[in-house]
Amino acid sequence: MAETITIIDDRTGKKVTVQVKDGVFASSALRELDPNLRMYDPAFLSTAACSSSITYLDGEAGVLRYRGYPIEQLAEKSTFLEVAYLLLNGELPTTQQAEKWKFDVTHHTMIHENMRKRFVDGFHYDAHPMGMFISAIAALGTFYDDSKNIFDEDVLNKQILRLVAKVPTIAAMTYRFSSGLPFVLPNNSMPYAQNFLNMMYRIGDDYTVHPALARAMDVLFILHADHEQNCGTTTMRVVASSHADPYSATAAAAAALSGPLHGGANEAVIHMLHEISDVKNVSAFVEQVKNGDDRLMGFGHRVYKNFDPRATILKKAAYDVFEVTGKNPLLDVALKLEEVALNDEYFISRKLYPNVDFYSGLIYQALGFPVEMFTVLFAIPRTVGWLAHMSELLKDKEQKISRPRQWYTGVDERNYVEMKKR
Ligand code: CMC
Repeated sequence: MAETITIIDDRTGKKVTVQVKDGVFASSALRELDPNLRMYDPAFLSTAACSSSITYLDGEAGVLRYRGYPIEQLAEKSTFLEVAYLLLNGELPTTQQAEKWKFDVTHHTMIHENMRKRFVDGFHYDAHPMGMFISAIAALGTFYDDSKNIFDEDVLNKQILRLVAKVPTIAAMTYRFSSGLPFVLPNNSMPYAQNFLNMMYRIGDDYTVHPALARAMDVLFILHADHEQNCGTTTMRVVASSHADPYSATAAAAAALSGPLHGGANEAVIHMLHEISDVKNVSAFVEQVKNGDDRLMGFGHRVYKNFDPRATILKKAAYDVFEVTGKNPLLDVALKLEEVALNDEYFISRKLYPNVDFYSGLIYQALGFPVEMFTVLFAIPRTVGWLAHMSELLKDKEQKISRPRQWYTGVDERNYVEMKKR
């Protein structure tokens, strides 16, 4: 079978034949027909803006792989730091590489005292942690004047290491500030997720991290580490394409993540479950959604049209966590909602299934996180994915500064009218 597509311009009779590889063709071929031809693709539904070898996603089959490794295997057998190394470097680390990576990350967890004392203390007492997180990441870049030197690989890798190491410290700091609690310094003898939970919850000497909960946190981090060209990662690539420094680009990506249709959905799920509050109200809520008066948060995905493999792993992880913490009272509402929706024609015909955010919020809540922290929890591991994409982009000879075209639909030229004549 020919792996080509022939496109005919009926206006001129010109035709062009283009190669199709893996279901993709280079749209630049269209310019051969007419240099002014544009493809109108709002929200990039049919556009591959880059080639990437980091994450593979098959939405129809519910497949997600990092660098070829199935997410199910990584969630079961790996650790977040190992997955971070894999995403950033392309291969799983050897014992020696893993030790060095772990040592390096755990020895870059501190942040400058000015960040804590002056920058974070300057926020209003009820500032949203995600707003604090986004601005703190951008501010962090100002402490490293070499951070703009993005084409020096060693320098770039140093910033990547700093960001991966410091995001949990910043995240925990936003929480401690919101709660009026003193900051807890990073503990370099603890593994990544355990150290984060310790910075979140330690009061004096009175806190031990339960190993099952630290593992659940680590699995949550693994599942959120990358997800190819989603809104936040696309933002990362667009901003990095202007050769902005990694801190500015990461802050921009985090800002994209904060919206309720993206990383903010886990927070919205909990608000929704609270609003429903009882299994007996589920059917009425689902009717509201079908009438278009509401949206079933944590359901639906631009790419997954069968199931989201992360949601399957998280549903099981939720039960493991509840064994330690006791059941989240909203679980029954969530289970009923899932059951009703999965058997309803509206959701079946639109291929709407639970996504990663449907169960993650319940686990976060059981781990003691306030809902305002949920998107920050997503941003910690996703920082790794964003930076892997930035590194890849900077090495990609086919990439230039992102600059899409538009379809102008405004008024034609007209003359300025003096105020008194309007
Ligand atoms: N509840 C009710 N109806 C929905 C939902 C939902 N959650 N999601 C999609 N639909 C309907 C939508 O109204 C449309 O119906 P119709 O054809 O009658 O107009 C149809 O399904 C197609 O939806 P769409 O809005 O064209 O789909 P999209 O690919 O643009 O949106 C989405 C994807 C994730 C933004 C959307 O499904 C949604 O808003 N979900 C709720 C928010 C959410 O859980 N977001 C987290 C996504 S996963 C984490 C991440 O990657 O950020």
